[in-house]
Amino acid sequence: MMDKPGTDFIHLSVMPREVLEYLAPRDGGVYLDGTLGAAGHSRLILEASSPGGRLIGLDRDPAALRKAAQVLAPFGDRALLRQSNFSEAPAVLQDLGIDKLDGILVDLGVSSHQLDTMERGFSFREDAPLDMRMNPESDEPTAADLLSELSEEELANIFWELGEERFSRRIARRIVARRLENPVETTRQLADLVAGALPKPKGGHRIHPATRVFQALRIRVNDELGELQKLLDVAFDLLSEGGILVVISFHSLEDRMVKLCFRREASSCVCPPRMPLCVCGHAPRLKLLTRKGVKAQQDEVDGNPRSRSAVLRAAVRLP
Ligand SMILES: C[S@@+](CC[C@H](N)C(=O)[O-])C[C@H]1O[C@@H](n2cnc3c(N)ncnc32)[C@H](O)[C@@H]1O
Ligand SMILES: [Zn+2]
Repeated sequence: MMDKPGTDFIHLSVMPREVLEYLAPRDGGVYLDGTLGAAGHSRLILEASSPGGRLIGLDRDPAALRKAAQVLAPFGDRALLRQSNFSEAPAVLQDLGIDKLDGILVDLGVSSHQLDTMERGFSFREDAPLDMRMNPESDEPTAADLLSELSEEELANIFWELGEERFSRRIARRIVARRLENPVETTRQLADLVAGALPKPKGGHRIHPATRVFQALRIRVNDELGELQKLLDVAFDLLSEGGILVVISFHSLEDRMVKLCFRREASSCVCPPRMPLCVCGHAPRLKLLTRKGVKAQQDEVDGNPRSRSAVLRAAVRLP
């Protein structure tokens, strides 16, 4: 069912087998896909929960929503799609009159479609305006706006914290020096500026020297860590007893947030470590289904390099 030939978008969905294994969609269940993208996972969830399962699909990107609507058309009104950030899921569900969910999936980050659409500005393979907003219709600042408005220190912190870029300060200094004359407005301008700011290693760079800066800016432009934290704060309230949360992350900071949240919510005590007796009265709200983060299997990594950095964690809501 999962590997039908001709369904190319399914091959772009990361860890499809594992998503189905942990989410275990069932007939009559109600599921939320917070990151529809090309609806590869959503389609699998709808197939696995036939004939009565329902799916609410969210994406902040209007282009993803249009694509998902096409892919999921055969499922008719079993699929309800809305343009929204997944942090707003509680409001969307309330609007739809849905109280509790049997499962939630988020597959974080950008889609290959977003990366490959040059004018969105996520990639430096071709020259394009530095936008990087997953929702280009929003009023939020673009990557170019941030490069022209933030202080040198703020820029350096973004590159360091979100991109682990060792030369964050040097790059930030170059950007600020350059923008006194000309704003940095396109992907090529930024990629060239970063490449010019870094020392050339012997034997060349392993990845393009601007990769980490682009990743960091994208995460910041879309407040990806803030979105994830807000989702983690509400997800277990949205699940019914036995409901399951599955998160696929691609960045160590995201995975750390998920791990810490799961650990805390699964614990029967959250007192500070030096307390002699438990005084918190914390009741575990979930049970972990994955003790360690699950990685994609080798056959998948061979066919879809993006899956290499994916980590999946899942937990089930307790009464
Ligand atoms: C990796 S893709 C998802 C691919 C999808 N699971 C599939 O199988 O086709 C991530 C998608 O989530 C969307 N997205 C990322 N963060 C979001 C957020 N906070 N709220 C809503 N959508 C988000 C992006 O616009 C993108 O389309
Ligand atoms: Zn305690």
